[in-house]
Amino acid sequence: MTRTTFPKGFLWGGAIAANQAEGAYNVDGRGLVQTDVTTGGSVDTPRYTTFIDKDGKPGKVASMGHMGHIPEGAKFAVLEDYYYPNHDGVDFYHRYKEDIKLFAEMGYSVFRLSISWARIFPNGDDAEPNQAGLDFYRSVFEECRKYGIEPLVSIWHFDTPLSLEERYGGWTNRKLIDFYVRYAETIFKEYKGLVKYWLTFNEINGTIMFMEFGGDNVPDKAYQDAYQHLHYQFVASARAVKLAHEIDPDYKVGNMICGITYYPATCDPADILLNEHKWQQNIYYCGDVQAKGKYPTFAKRLWKERNVELDITEQDLIDLREGKVDMYTFSYYMTNNVTTHTGEDLVGGNFSHGTKNPYLTYSDWGWAHDPSGLQYYLEKMYDRYEIPMMVVENGLGAFDTVEEDGSIHDDYRIDYHRAHIKAMGAAIENGVDLIAYTTWGCIDLVSAGTGEMRKRYGFIYVDKDDAGNGTFDRTPKDSFYWYKDVIASNGQKALEE
Ligand code: BG6
Repeated sequence: MTRTTFPKGFLWGGAIAANQAEGAYNVDGRGLVQTDVTTGGSVDTPRYTTFIDKDGKPGKVASMGHMGHIPEGAKFAVLEDYYYPNHDGVDFYHRYKEDIKLFAEMGYSVFRLSISWARIFPNGDDAEPNQAGLDFYRSVFEECRKYGIEPLVSIWHFDTPLSLEERYGGWTNRKLIDFYVRYAETIFKEYKGLVKYWLTFNEINGTIMFMEFGGDNVPDKAYQDAYQHLHYQFVASARAVKLAHEIDPDYKVGNMICGITYYPATCDPADILLNEHKWQQNIYYCGDVQAKGKYPTFAKRLWKERNVELDITEQDLIDLREGKVDMYTFSYYMTNNVTTHTGEDLVGGNFSHGTKNPYLTYSDWGWAHDPSGLQYYLEKMYDRYEIPMMVVENGLGAFDTVEEDGSIHDDYRIDYHRAHIKAMGAAIENGVDLIAYTTWGCIDLVSAGTGEMRKRYGFIYVDKDDAGNGTFDRTPKDSFYWYKDVIASNGQKALEE
């Protein structure tokens, strides 16, 4: 008898984001977003946001969420002497038919992508949507449908229109809620019948996780802004969920959390407590509001610790209650160790850092390789929320070598995915209702953290380097053929290897 660990109809696929893949940043009426004024960086050089100051002088500031602002009176600007890797992305905008055909060849039943708000409303609050933007995504979704691929659409993937940042100060302004909801309503109506699965905000908890990078010196004002920003996004998300269900009762809407599994580095009780508080602040805070529809008890402690006083109305609390998500979706790359002790070796990670775990190996960018952490996260979160789950990002950023004959032997990437698929299988056997897996990214794209191309995640190689040179030609890697067989066997191949 064939074993069926992964349920029938399990969604297998991959994921990309508009700003990292599409390119065509100033084409067909699209407005600017922050990544368009963000330079390339590397594992040890930050990306910079560029601007012209009030006296007309060019400048740059390290891109650091609520800790790095452009100076008072400055305007975001694309400057001549810098390279902006997202401007071209990997040209998905012009090559989506070729790319979706390749995804179909791998056997995808789901493809996660994001809509760029600034293609639909170039300034974020325009009177009418931009027809060229609406047409582009319609064509992308129709192409997916042609192959029986279900689109899984992020409404926001780190790309608030820059004009909203400039005129309203971004998400610390309540007005952004209405602008977002109008954008969401437009696309919910426009793509009814073409899209079923939606995600409101990509890695919404990144805003608070970012604070760790400032160490003990982060001012309370930065926390005030971060928590207020999050509150307005929670309300926007909840109102969008409610609206989605009204527009089409078949719509399924999820949150999207940057999923990190935190471990206490020692059995010192102080480490255990600190670790639990880390889960509360970085993981549960956003997950609880979006999946349970209310702030958790510990929120009051978090706000008090930083003298945060939030603008929260009675109507907001009603909206949160009525706009609970249908599924818990998250990215998973790695784990981090938490300790109160000093003098340990530090390592980095996705929006986070911690002490080095002697039981794990690390990628060239310092991210821990820990499939058990994924099983742990799935079981812990399913127990907490009891709603269907999706792993919507998981992958290995690695250097790839193109052989003389053009082939790319990425067995390290196959090993990474095999181990994580086994971990998902174990969680499913233990009762977790996991319904989808979209690897990051199905095709090489611009790294969000470093802006590099050489930090490659794809099963499809893109000929573009860190300076933007290359043909942009696509070549399947060994992992492409391996994943194709995994999908054809509904995961059994990976479980049995
Ligand atoms: C997640 C993001 O943080 O991780 C993606 O949702 C990002 O946009 C991915 O690309 C991997 O991170 P990085 O920095 O290696 O691109």
